[in-house]
Amino acid sequence: MRYAFCLYALAIFPLCEVKKRQYLTKTFIDFINKNQSSWRAGKFFLENVTSGNFVHLHPQLVLKVVDEVRVKDCNLEDLHIPDSFDARKEWPHCADVIGNIKDQGSCNSCWAFSSTGVMTDRLCIQSEGDVKFQFSPQDILSCCENCSTGWVGGGFWSRGWRYWTESGIVSGGDYDSYQGCVFYQESEYYLETKSPCIKFCNNPHYNISYAEAKHFGSDYYQVNPAEECIQAEIMSNGPVEAVFDLHEDFSYYKDGVYTYTIGGLVSLHSVKIVGWGAENGNPYWLAANSWGCMWGKLKGFF
Ligand SMILES: *[C@@H]1O[C@H](CO)[C@@H](O)[C@H](O)[C@H]1NC(C)=O
Ligand SMILES: *[C@@H]1O[C@H](CO)[C@@H](O)[C@H](O)[C@H]1NC(C)=O
Ligand SMILES: *[C@@H]1O[C@H](CO)[C@@H](O)[C@H](O)[C@H]1NC(C)=O
Repeated sequence: MRYAFCLYALAIFPLCEVKKRQYLTKTFIDFINKNQSSWRAGKFFLENVTSGNFVHLHPQLVLKVVDEVRVKDCNLEDLHIPDSFDARKEWPHCADVIGNIKDQGSCNSCWAFSSTGVMTDRLCIQSEGDVKFQFSPQDILSCCENCSTGWVGGGFWSRGWRYWTESGIVSGGDYDSYQGCVFYQESEYYLETKSPCIKFCNNPHYNISYAEAKHFGSDYYQVNPAEECIQAEIMSNGPVEAVFDLHEDFSYYKDGVYTYTIGGLVSLHSVKIVGWGAENGNPYWLAANSWGCMWGKLKGFF
């Protein structure tokens, strides 16, 4: 079967590069908490995994690339957009799939996680919970040549989606999970390079071949960036991939409605939006990050 899904923005990311970064200080956290009341900052990672989880925070400017990706028409007729929405509640038979927080580890593979996360959620939603097929971020990372840019090691968002329609993506679970055909390999906190493309299942317990495990998308598209159009898309079809400027303070998110407060621009970051709402009058998007469930008080959501 082939399925249609969406894409929200196009960008290039550094892939799986390890660069250590000085930790932000307590002074920095205190500043955030005193300077505004929308969100609260804290230190949430365990001490010994902090450096690993922060390697994606290196101050390298990333390029925005515009690939030609169709922008879907936005039709708001007869649509009542509620004040709040959570895809996990809307599709309870897929709540475990949509709420599954991933951990990209030391690899700058957020784009692979948010895109395969959306593919996985939407396949579950469209099959009314019958198909819980977890698309493998590792398969795109290792095997999509056009998704990265040689020695710079960058990743283009739209290429992961194109790879899905042209080459298909196999199943694959978390690091060391032995789930699916190609489970995640890049989560070691000091890994230096990305894993090569092997084109067979790295899971010896998986009894389907790599070729048979490939699932193809039929189409992908961008969503009109107007707020209501994004909401309409999520309500009608499920979560979407989103891209935003990642600043240093975001790493220290604890809870509340995040809004940029202090710190340098790190790179672009990609996440999965699953809903929206408002807190104390501040409207927000509800999104799943891919920094593990130890990040933040909402266990990986923000
Ligand atoms: C927050 O910090 C900025 C920059 O230092 C400052 O201009 C602003 O007045 C501060 N706001 C509050 C409420 O402390
Ligand atoms: C990391 O921290 C956890 C929790 O404090 C601890 O159980 C574990 O042994 C630590 N691992 C290493 C390698 O230090
Ligand atoms: C990779 O990119 C080249 C040049 O844009 C294109 O001709 C080729 O079809 C792409 N290959 C895949 C597998 O997407």
